[in-house]
Amino acid sequence: MSVRRVLFVCLGNICRSPLVEAVARKRLAEAGLDVVVASCGTGGWHAGEGADSRMIAAAHAAGHDLSQHRARQLHERDFEDYDLLLAMDRDNLRELHKLAATPEQTERTALFLEWVGATPPLEFPDPWHGDAAGFAAAVKLAERGVAGLVERLRDVNS
Ligand code: 4NP
Repeated sequence: MSVRRVLFVCLGNICRSPLVEAVARKRLAEAGLDVVVASCGTGGWHAGEGADSRMIAAAHAAGHDLSQHRARQLHERDFEDYDLLLAMDRDNLRELHKLAATPEQTERTALFLEWVGATPPLEFPDPWHGDAAGFAAAVKLAERGVAGLVERLRDVNS
């Protein structure tokens, strides 16, 4: 399966998945891989809002720009628009499975850190309730996960 379009999925689409999207867009471009990335949330409470200001600040400190992000909710059509839908945690993955209409669609979902071959724990902790250190740790984890993503995408698309 060639993977040309990847959707990152978290709960609110204001912290983890926008971060991973921004890091992935930058690192994939640097690697010369032609893969489109986007993100969304399984919940719609923050739809239309920008990313969390603490997430924007931590990402900015590491050279990633989240200022243009606008949150949106996962939609059934995302299974048609994206080849691979990567969930940040197991709750997000369960929501993807609920929305998948066919076994083929379910097969194109996975836990982000698992798909990229990270070492456990495989759930991406939500920094939303935590402090600044949690947001900085999220940026580091996103970088590690995306490094694995770049390698795996290079493999599957070659
Ligand atoms: P995210 O974090 O899923 O990484 O965007 C959250 C942001 C907001 C909420 C939950 C998680 N919330 O319940 O509003």
